[in-house]
Amino acid sequence: MRLYDIIKKKRDGGELSTEEIDFFIRGVTDGSIPDYQISALCMAIYFRGMNVRETSDLTFAVRDSGDRLDFSAIKGIRADKHSTGGVGDKTSLVVGPIVASLGVKVAKMSGRGLGHTGGTVDKLEAIPGLKTTLAEEDFIRQVNEIGIAIVGQSREFAPADKKLYALRDVTATVDSMPLIAASIMGKKLAADDDCIVLDVKTGSGSFMKSVERSRDLARLMVDIGKRAGKKMVALITDMDVPLGNAIGNSLEVIEAVETLKGRGPEDFTEVCLTLAAYMLSLADMGTPDEAKALAKRALLDGSALQKFKQMVAAQGGDPACIEDTDKFAKAKYSHAVKATAAGYITRVDTEAYGLASLALGAGRNTAEDRIDYSAGILLNKKTREHVEKGEVLATLFANDEKKFAEAERILLAATTFGPTMPAKAPLIYDIVE
Ligand code: URA
Repeated sequence: MRLYDIIKKKRDGGELSTEEIDFFIRGVTDGSIPDYQISALCMAIYFRGMNVRETSDLTFAVRDSGDRLDFSAIKGIRADKHSTGGVGDKTSLVVGPIVASLGVKVAKMSGRGLGHTGGTVDKLEAIPGLKTTLAEEDFIRQVNEIGIAIVGQSREFAPADKKLYALRDVTATVDSMPLIAASIMGKKLAADDDCIVLDVKTGSGSFMKSVERSRDLARLMVDIGKRAGKKMVALITDMDVPLGNAIGNSLEVIEAVETLKGRGPEDFTEVCLTLAAYMLSLADMGTPDEAKALAKRALLDGSALQKFKQMVAAQGGDPACIEDTDKFAKAKYSHAVKATAAGYITRVDTEAYGLASLALGAGRNTAEDRIDYSAGILLNKKTREHVEKGEVLATLFANDEKKFAEAERILLAATTFGPTMPAKAPLIYDIVE
């Protein structure tokens, strides 16, 4: 088999066989196919697309390019959620404990933040002492004993994706539905869960800017997951505004803890409850409505908070910080960003809000950058709210005062004011089952 022929077939609109796709991904993984041919095939896929069968084959080949986890030693049903990434998205910190407190196992491998999006592992590491690396047997023991563990990726999952993504990033081929689906699901399916709820973000803070494209991606990923024998649901949720009011690692953990104490922002609480409801429902805990009632109760009666504390303690973190979030290290400086005009906030560029947080030190430009856990943004006003000129829009936190000017410039440029209140956008656009 020659990659030249595979590129030509796809360039001319042909359907690739399972063998051809396996040959491609094997060559990507072992380095026998040069970057220019990988890039050429990605471009051909970008223009010609792939059908569901081809995309599933590509996903399974990516999944099988590296290690796969075996969770068979975990007793009970295992459910996971995966977000396509956004700003202020700390849902795993709340959804995981809710679901685990109701007896469904959460064995979660999470990622780190990059660019404008945050990552659960970084947020957890903002908790003093908490370890996000566990030996596999300790990880499984913790899930069996307390029902939940959230860690970073210790092994090399889907190495073909790493290579492919790096090339797509520099050849303008990231934005291809089959390539995105195979990348996300190839990594997700390397873990060993029974049920997966996908949180496909849509809007200005997401890499899918339109609801239609988000829905198409969700349908495709649900289909692939089912072909792999998983129980699947995808929620299309709003990322046209940051989720909740906190952006930045410690700030987001504190907001998650407040939510576990029943005092969270309404939008964030609702998305968490809905995600938890679908995870529980897939795990045979009733209809989504019944499961949502269980999830609400777990928030209100403190059992989800208790579960989070147990997880923090089991992973070496200081549970006193969860009891009293004043114990989190504070940034040395804060700065109020004031509205430059009176009116309603009609639109925000959520990706830019993420970049403003990055400029304060809360994120990474490259995978090697160090994070300042206490840096970030607390939003005082969000889309549809009215502000007077000079009223505080947001409070910035940093350990270097010089960072405020750039973050403030980004934030103000990303906020549009107008005379009329915009229509309320749905928080959850669709459920793809
Ligand atoms: N996230 C991924 O993991 N892969 C993509 O291709 C896009 C977003």
